[in-house]
Amino acid sequence: MIQDISAIMFDERQIHTRIKELGEQISKDYCGKTPVLLCILKGASMFMADLMRSITIPVEIDFMAISSYGDSRKSSGVVQIKKDVDVNLDGRHVIIVEDIVDTGLSLKYLKDYISKHNPNSLATCVLLDKPSGHKIEVSVEYIGFQVANEFVVGYGLDYAQKYRNLPFIGILKEEVYS
Ligand code: PRP
Repeated sequence: MIQDISAIMFDERQIHTRIKELGEQISKDYCGKTPVLLCILKGASMFMADLMRSITIPVEIDFMAISSYGDSRKSSGVVQIKKDVDVNLDGRHVIIVEDIVDTGLSLKYLKDYISKHNPNSLATCVLLDKPSGHKIEVSVEYIGFQVANEFVVGYGLDYAQKYRNLPFIGILKEEVYS
């Protein structure tokens, strides 16, 4: 796997430090509340596991699985729900936990979908934001890192379902996907 990576963008230590900060901020902002952390599978699985451990207030967790990319590099914009929410979100403070915002189409779909469940509040926490990829305007309350227009994998992010188990975020060599 490692031979397919041209450079490490964020190493384990940088990721850990930033997630600790995000957790502290969320713990402050939601003090006295019990938010629902809604992890969007599969990409956000590793982020979720670390983020929830960095939050010091009570939380509930739930998982949704969606897919917009399939095995391709480009977002189709058509989001499929593969696993729906289980927790009743009516009146709850919901925080969507995502690995990356690229075009923003998945997040827009998710926000619209969750809004229909009548939450008390809805926020988003993403590990990576790729502003150059945005096709629509998206507002995100908590961002780990902003990234340039590179193909990033690792720490949950895949290319054709591979590389998710890399402990760091790296740039995939162009020859691998072109
Ligand atoms: C990835 C990622 C986001 C979405 C972001 O999911 O986890 O959900 O793409 O891209 P966008 O902003 O262009 O919509 P993917 O469909 O690849 O599924 P995965 O999480 O299982 O890897």
